[in-house]
Amino acid sequence: LASIYVDVSGVQVGTQLTVKWRGKPVFIRRRSPEEIEAARAVDLSDSTFIDRGSENANKPGTDASDANRTLDEAGEWLVMIGVCTHLGCVPIGNGAGEFGGWFCPCHGSHYDTAGRIRKGPAPRNLEVPLAQFTDETTILLG
Ligand code: FES
Repeated sequence: LASIYVDVSGVQVGTQLTVKWRGKPVFIRRRSPEEIEAARAVDLSDSTFIDRGSENANKPGTDASDANRTLDEAGEWLVMIGVCTHLGCVPIGNGAGEFGGWFCPCHGSHYDTAGRIRKGPAPRNLEVPLAQFTDETTILLG
């Protein structure tokens, strides 16, 4: 299956780019310090937490801590398949929903600033695809 290179040089802090890859939207978000802080402050052992797996193809079998979700160590870059894990709608981003991340309007799923499902019918965190930086401003998907 095709891999693609994405130029992320124009993505400002606190915004995201959506590209189409293998027929699906992929969200590439450059998180603000506030988003990173909110995502890292989450307690995974909280009983309300829904999916404790990272759902990150780059780090199979790891837990859903924020560091296991992001592309870079500083946690600025978050790359995810933009498909709700409930029934496949495309969630709204840019701070939407009760957890400041993404919100799926189809049946009301709320994702946090790491794309983890926190409330609503979706069973899993938004999927992180195989991805890597090939230079400072280019991300390879697949
Ligand atoms: Fe997203 Fe149902 S498809 S909540």
